[in-house]
Amino acid sequence: MAVKAISKTASQTPQTENIIRRQKDYLFPCVANYYETPLVLTEGKGRHVKDTEGNTFLDFFGGILTVSIGHADERINQAVKAQMDKLGHVSTLYPTEPIVDFAEMLAGVTPGELQQSFFSNSGSEANETAVMLAQLYTGRSEIVALRHGYSGRTLVTQALTAHSTWRALPTQFAGVKHAVSPYCYRCPFKLKYPSCDVACAQDIEELIRTTTTGQVAAFLAEPIQGVGGFIVPPKEYFKIAVEIIRTHGGIFICDEVQTALGRTGGNIFGIDYYGVKPDIMTMAKGIANGMPFGATVAKPEIADSIKALSISTFGGNPVCCTAAIETLKIVVNDHIPAKSEKLGQQLRAGLNALKQKHPRTVGDVRGRGLMQALEFVEDETKGNRTPNPKATVQFFEETRKRNLLIGKGGLYGNVVRLAPPMSVTESEIDEALGIIGEALASMKA
Ligand SMILES: Cc1ncc(COP(=O)(O)O)c(C=O)c1O
Repeated sequence: MAVKAISKTASQTPQTENIIRRQKDYLFPCVANYYETPLVLTEGKGRHVKDTEGNTFLDFFGGILTVSIGHADERINQAVKAQMDKLGHVSTLYPTEPIVDFAEMLAGVTPGELQQSFFSNSGSEANETAVMLAQLYTGRSEIVALRHGYSGRTLVTQALTAHSTWRALPTQFAGVKHAVSPYCYRCPFKLKYPSCDVACAQDIEELIRTTTTGQVAAFLAEPIQGVGGFIVPPKEYFKIAVEIIRTHGGIFICDEVQTALGRTGGNIFGIDYYGVKPDIMTMAKGIANGMPFGATVAKPEIADSIKALSISTFGGNPVCCTAAIETLKIVVNDHIPAKSEKLGQQLRAGLNALKQKHPRTVGDVRGRGLMQALEFVEDETKGNRTPNPKATVQFFEETRKRNLLIGKGGLYGNVVRLAPPMSVTESEIDEALGIIGEALASMKA
């Protein structure tokens, strides 16, 4: 087949060029890469990764909040290698020790009456399972999701996702209603917290009454909207929203795909901060430190509502469960939630100081724990909050030059997401802040 030429940058080795060219030739074009010239990574250890050009980067995105503990963590890798040598795969037709061990551990750390798990391979599948479960349990079909939310790439989860940029097809799954996002920086009602009385949560009542049969199956929401650009709902948000849903007979599906395992600081789960107990919780990304894993955890009476046969061939695979067990042990034994809170405060303080220094472009700094974001706008000093994706792209290139990896988010592609592996150290946070400061300064010039 014809091989398309790509532009070669001065620093590219033939190996880098070759990989980038074959990525273009043999992967779907929608498998988008960061940076003007994609970065080809070869190795990782702790919080660092290396590329094919011999550069080392400090990783502040951890494979999209997935490498929770760090790259090539010896404790996790040793356990995974041993399990691989012992028993790699049998399917869920047979119970194994790793699958029941992990399910039991999850029941021990998840809030309220969450107890039984269904394991799959991704966040999309975990959410798809949760929606199916909610519909079967309630005998209803309508789901309330949130604008700016991201739920996955399957047909149902694309319908739940409220980002046109991530929707390849028109909605194929009826009955999803999107409530406004608790996005204080861009309040949909142009109000200010706390005098707003959390109008975004209160509005769910009106949404249900006006756009549904009034008989909803569930409310599905992330404790912090990840892809949306680390949008943090106000403290009272979930109590109000979930009470409204329950009054209308629906249940609460909490999507902890990005926020689980201490990421938001202080607690193991993002929802713990809000003092609300979900009926179903979904997890993926960071729960197995990079091994493919999706989990849907439910109350027993809800889990019991799938009467048909249901299998995920790879879900709960012993090797992935072993990775998940080791990851969760480290989270608990190394007090990761407390560390994430403390280190998150350090990162946040540094980012706030940088916002003071660059008040024009940095419109907002937000997040919790080791999940912090910068929102780039045209000119905050003049109250011009027009999203500035161009500045974000420039910031990406400037931080890459200085060997720091970061993430992007937000409906408008103007939010920088920072979420390092949670084993990050104080000095690495200082190093990242130094690079971010230099990158911001270089953009001003
Ligand atoms: C909150 C949330 N839910 C679900 C998903 C889908 O997960 P996956 O990409 O593993 O299917 C994502 C992925 O970014 C996510 O951020």
